This record gives sequence, structure tokens and C-alpha cells, in this order.
Amino acid sequence: MSWLCKLRASALCLAFAIPAAAAADPVRPDPARLPTPPNGTREQVALGDRIFHGEAADGKCAECHGVDAKGTANGNDLTVGMWIWGDGSVSAIKATIGHNMKMAPGMDGRLTPADVDAVVAYVWALGHQKD
Ligand code: HEC
Repeated sequence: MSWLCKLRASALCLAFAIPAAAAADPVRPDPARLPTPPNGTREQVALGDRIFHGEAADGKCAECHGVDAKGTANGNDLTVGMWIWGDGSVSAIKATIGHNMKMAPGMDGRLTPADVDAVVAYVWALGHQKD
């Protein structure tokens, strides 16, 4: 922006500067700092993070739930520990994802059973952050 501000009148400069400042970029949670679910592993959380963000198994989760998993117009916030479906336990999250995959095959990506377990561990971890 700086060269633009030097070249142009300040009104144009502001027009470019304000939207950039107002829309904070969503921050992808650091999987290394997330908790690990009961009977789950750190590796599952790490793989789940990659699936969620479209880096494995053709996962599409972030497209609807957001890069920061805090939700978009097309998918709800998965980080607040409040669930529309079930109690947020590993088994409840797994049932929800399994149900969605049956309802709309391919919408969530191409997940093997191991991929489902990994992304379930990741979603559990998102909903059980301490801070
Ligand atoms: C096409 C958009 C879309 C995609 C892709 C998608 N979701 Fe969702 N998801 C939704 C919507 C919308 C809801 C809320 C459904 C409802 O209210 O019935 C939801 C609900 C959920 C829930 C239940 C949340 C709750 O509060 O109970 C979980 C867990 C979840 N999604 C995980 C995932 C995961 C993991 C992926 C990727 C493997 C994924 N979703 C991909 C749109 C999407």
C-alpha cells in the first residue's frame, strides 16, 4: 500500500487500507498445541488437521467450517465446545461425520475409516481447547 499512498490522493489510499485492516485473516490452529482425545493420538490430530484443510484425502471441511474452524455461512463453528449434534464426544462427532458422508457422499472429501478417525480426533481437539 505504501507506494500507492505516496502516488495517489489520500482518499484512494484509505479505500485500499481500510478493508484490509477490517477483515482479519482467519488463523489456522496449530495442531501441535491442540489437546489429544481419549484413546486418540497426536498423529491422528495432525492428519486430521491436514484433511480438514484439504491437504489429505481431498478433505473439504475448511471450505464450509473455515480455515480457523470458526464457521462460515455454510458451516458452523467447531471450536466453541457447543454442538448441534450430540455431546461433542469422540463417538458423537464420529456419528455426525459418518451420517453426513452417507447423506452427501464426497462432500466431505474421500475419507477412509482411518481418515475419519483422524478428522474426528481433530474436531474433538478443536472443541476442547483450554483457552
Ligand atoms: C458443504 C459444506 C460442509 C462441508 C464440506 C463440511 N461440513 Fe461439517 N457441517 C456443515 C454444516 C452446514 C453443518 C451443520 C449441520 C446442521 O446444522 O445440521 C455441519 C456440521 C458438522 C459437525 C457437527 C457440528 C455440531 O455442532 O454438532 C461436525 C462435527 C462437522 N460438520 C465436521 C465436518 C468435517 C470434519 C468435515 C470434513 C471432513 C466437514 N464437516 C465438512 C457443512 C459442511
